[in-house]
Amino acid sequence: MPKAVALLVAAGSGERLGASRPKAFVMLAGRPMLEWSVAALRAAGLSEIVVALPEGEPAPDGCAGVPGGATRSASVRAALAAAGEGDVVVHDAARPLVEPALFTAALAALEGADAAVAAAQATDTIKEAGPDHRVTATLDRSRLWAIQTPQAFRRSSLERALDVGDDVLAQATDDAWLVERAGGSVVVVPSTPANFKVTTPHDLTVAELLLSSRSSG
Ligand code: CTP
Ligand code: MG
Repeated sequence: MPKAVALLVAAGSGERLGASRPKAFVMLAGRPMLEWSVAALRAAGLSEIVVALPEGEPAPDGCAGVPGGATRSASVRAALAAAGEGDVVVHDAARPLVEPALFTAALAALEGADAAVAAAQATDTIKEAGPDHRVTATLDRSRLWAIQTPQAFRRSSLERALDVGDDVLAQATDDAWLVERAGGSVVVVPSTPANFKVTTPHDLTVAELLLSSRSSG
């Protein structure tokens, strides 16, 4: 695998989780949530890790830390500015269940694209509805993917994509969209719903159950 750097975004406050500290630092099956992602990155051979941090929280041992930005993509941009050479893997600290092989698969998929994003194929039927809840379309499920992290990028593509105003960064719900709008090519890397994002207290309970059985088994 060519040299790659990892950016772990952990600077969010976790408003929807509603814990007393920033989400990435909430204890989860015996360690702060972000440590699960750090361990998975290292298991995949990614040892250079830059973490975008909320105010007042320390970087995990062996990782570089930078202050996060006002939005998720601003945090990615801040972390990228502090990272050494190589292609880039961006991961949400809020996805602690990630398996090391997914990082490797995303980087390998860069062979034919500017960006490669982990994604789970839609299993529910997805409909589009207006503000009045009236359905306007039923989408073709076989072509729909729920996008996750990790997201791997060719370094130059990500740098170019992030070189936009803060208003554009604020619209981005993932970094691959910024690459798409800059004309870059993005491929999906099949993942599963097991790599879910911890957003609500319910998600935290499920992650706790899954990760505690992992560490004891
Ligand atoms: N994130 C970040 N910088 C921000 C906002 C988010 O680094 N300004 C990170 C979060 O720490 C998280 C990931 O981006 O790991 C995904 O964001 P999300 O799940 O929305 O986390 P929060 O923004 O913390 O949660 P909420 O939206 O509920 O406040
Ligand atoms: Mg958020």
